[in-house]
Amino acid sequence: MTIDQMRRELQRRLKRSRFAHSIGVANTAVALAKKFGVDETQAYVAGLLHDCAREFENDELPAQAESRGIEIGEVERALPLLLHAYIGAKMVAEVYGVNDAQIQQAIYRHTVGAANMTALDKIIYFADMIEPNRNYPGVENLRALVDKNSLDEILLTALGESIIFVVQKNSLVHPSTVAARNYLLLNRTK
Ligand SMILES: [Fe+2]
Ligand SMILES: [Fe+2]
Repeated sequence: MTIDQMRRELQRRLKRSRFAHSIGVANTAVALAKKFGVDETQAYVAGLLHDCAREFENDELPAQAESRGIEIGEVERALPLLLHAYIGAKMVAEVYGVNDAQIQQAIYRHTVGAANMTALDKIIYFADMIEPNRNYPGVENLRALVDKNSLDEILLTALGESIIFVVQKNSLVHPSTVAARNYLLLNRTK
């Protein structure tokens, strides 16, 4: 598929607000890719398609995961929405013909993160939090990080904010988010 065909297919499958969010993440990811020296086409495609599995309702996600051989951990069992990232990583090949393993990994990791994230993984994770349609307390502070911080420092703050957010809701912290943050701290260059 061409990028234009991907966009049209995604638009057909997602509800309007989710599609607008996807375009926002794609454009934000390209801006971050320019700044941090990442391939802009990979950033655009990964950003565009990161939420492609949101075409399913939340209660459909466990069956959609199982049908693709995705193992459902105990946190995902409690929070099935998290599965959309893993399902999306498979759907980009199935539906959109994207066989780029780096794009698939960035989509897989976009919700809870992972240890040892690539620059592309980090860009998609962060673009998802700050794209222009996002509106929550503190989003401006996250957007402002881009000007004078390294990608690792940006992500350290973003992961910390995500953890604080779920803790304040009394929700589960996914172990991959802790692993992502610990990895950055343990490998921080001083
Ligand atoms: Fe998502
Ligand atoms: Fe998203």
